[in-house]
Amino acid sequence: MFVLGLQGSPRKKGNTSVLLSTFLTQAEKLGANTDYLDVPEKNITPCMECGTCEREGFCPIEDDMQDIYPQLRRADIIVMATPVFFYGPTAQMKALIDRSQALWARRYVRKLMDPLSKWRKGLLLALGATKGQNLFEGLNLTAKYFFDALGAEFDGLLGYRKIEGPGEIKKHPTALTEAKEKAVAMVSPLMKRKRMLFVCTENACRSQMASAFAQHLAGDRIEAESAGSAPAQKVNPVMMEVMAEKGIDMAYRKPESTKDVATRRKPDQIFSMGCGDIFPLFPDASNEVWNLENPAGKSIDFMRRIRDEIEERVKKLVDGI
Ligand SMILES: Cc1cc2nc3c(=O)[nH]c(=O)nc-3n(C[C@H](O)[C@H](O)[C@H](O)COP(=O)(O)O)c2cc1C
Repeated sequence: MFVLGLQGSPRKKGNTSVLLSTFLTQAEKLGANTDYLDVPEKNITPCMECGTCEREGFCPIEDDMQDIYPQLRRADIIVMATPVFFYGPTAQMKALIDRSQALWARRYVRKLMDPLSKWRKGLLLALGATKGQNLFEGLNLTAKYFFDALGAEFDGLLGYRKIEGPGEIKKHPTALTEAKEKAVAMVSPLMKRKRMLFVCTENACRSQMASAFAQHLAGDRIEAESAGSAPAQKVNPVMMEVMAEKGIDMAYRKPESTKDVATRRKPDQIFSMGCGDIFPLFPDASNEVWNLENPAGKSIDFMRRIRDEIEERVKKLVDGI
């Protein structure tokens, strides 16, 4: 369960920072993993409109955005927090938003579906100095289309007017309470999901496919993760290709070690693809061995057969939950 907070204000410990931190602290109290991403601190080049993302499906600009794409893809909830600057987000936040065009292109040009996109939620936290009726209109529209590109359902706005000097948000009669209440409303249902961990050796093919199918089919009921006893450097490109044939986008996923996954939350159930010994790490979790042959290095048809078998098994699994 991962909540990503995007903090857009260049002012250190400003109003936006206080509001977002309040939301994230409450989410952590409920058991979520969170990340406070201070956008102005990141090196994010504005979109150059080179068209590479639409032609090739990725952004070629080598900067901090390359680490942010996987974060956006991993998040169950994304919070965009920004002050109003000229009726829009700050320039720093806007650079990040424009670079999400790479995710838009994967979705709408390549027609691939991020496995979590049916379930991910996006929230806008915003504040400004003035009190005009239309203060948040520009931001609302930007957030709506930003979240759509990310594959997140826009869950609405918490917006506060007449907030100007540093720390003024703390004196607002309802803002911080509302941020906490919103965190409870968004995070609590997701914490009730059954936590399933799929494991193989390299976390490059089988366990990645299994967790992606579980996320895609039942991400509202299952929190699916995957890991490997000896993780590879990157996921298998043939696996990405056969999952794309099913319309599922495996971009931005990285193999992870079972030890790293163990530092987060304990799984309820573990599914081993038939290799690697991770069970001593989670002695209380129930486990099942699937005994699926490793498709790495074999033909694409073999990869397809393993994909289809995994899909069938996951379908049966999620039907019962
Ligand atoms: C460049 C700039 C543009 C701004 N534009 C607006 C605006 O259009 N409407 C408004 O109500 N406040 C505007 N403000 C005020 C900020 O939104 C306000 O001071 C806010 O509390 C700053 O939040 P922070 O502490 O998180 O940076 C602007 C401030 C700056 C520096």
